[in-house]
Amino acid sequence: MGNQSSKINIQNKKKQDAVIKPSTSISTNIGSIASSRRSSITEFFAKRKQSIASIMKREEDIKEHDREQRQHYLLKNVRKGNTRTLLDSPKRIVESGIGNGIWVLEMATQYPDAQVIGLDLKLPDIQLSNQTFYRANIIETWPIEPDSVDFLFQRNMVTCLQKDHWIHVFSEMFRVLKPGGSLELIEQDLLHHNPGPVLQALHAFYKEQFDQTKIDWELSTLRDALSQIGFIDIELITIDIPIGEWPTESDQKQFGFMNKDIQKAFLKNKKNEYMQRWSMSSMDYDVAVGEVCDEFEEYQSFTRVNCWMAKKPVY
Ligand SMILES: C[S@@+](CC[C@H](N)C(=O)[O-])C[C@H]1O[C@@H](n2cnc3c(N)ncnc32)[C@H](O)[C@@H]1O
Repeated sequence: MGNQSSKINIQNKKKQDAVIKPSTSISTNIGSIASSRRSSITEFFAKRKQSIASIMKREEDIKEHDREQRQHYLLKNVRKGNTRTLLDSPKRIVESGIGNGIWVLEMATQYPDAQVIGLDLKLPDIQLSNQTFYRANIIETWPIEPDSVDFLFQRNMVTCLQKDHWIHVFSEMFRVLKPGGSLELIEQDLLHHNPGPVLQALHAFYKEQFDQTKIDWELSTLRDALSQIGFIDIELITIDIPIGEWPTESDQKQFGFMNKDIQKAFLKNKKNEYMQRWSMSSMDYDVAVGEVCDEFEEYQSFTRVNCWMAKKPVY
């Protein structure tokens, strides 16, 4: 695998944990702060779940939102934060395509002085005071003034956009960013690396489907389109996340465990759609998913995460 930036020095952390022991009164205090914070977060997600259920009727869509949440935490852990770009007191932050809204929620909490805006076709009905959701189709004009955004984030949107939509999306991003503002785009390779034979067979189905729906599954347009629009300082960083517990190194093994769970959940959530699309019986589909999960370990498969960073020039 390529980038190893996600490693943590566990030995040093253990030493620190052994030295710092809070006194009973401090730990009781921390306990009550943690429990009130926990109950407000729990309450938020309980309401969030109701709000998702009100806009999503299908059980598999709700499960997909849960899977996206786990994926968010895996990516946050691997990347050691919600952004790679260093943000200096941002006033306005935008995410395009918010999914379950977790990134917007976390950024609004991390930057209480910033206004955090989420754009999506489907909106949740919950708001924090510094968080706003706009119902918007990002392949049309965005409801945001020009030159007004410090930081723009978009993640896992490649399957929602056709190849020829990217230029428009980037030109809207360019329009709304302040001169000097930054952009971060995260897309995972849609085909996993080191596939076994059954996964290769699924990949052939995927490619056919992506070609039919005009999806840029090779992510080939992204870099060229960014520079064509006028972005500068374009940088691409890739991080490889194992699928399965095959790595020997302990934190990679943990990431692999989580990633395999996420990939398995994806295949389960897509069962009805893929069975129909690929004319497979329920049993054949389940057998294929079981085989794919075994292959992840046997062939040491991994997911490649691509992160593009770019800036709008200061004129
Ligand atoms: C695959 S989810 C990704 C969500 C989130 N970015 C994440 O990383 O978890 C795609 C989201 O984009 C939204 N979406 C799809 N097409 C869109 C469009 N043309 N304009 C705005 N939102 C769109 C969907 O409603 C969904 O919430």
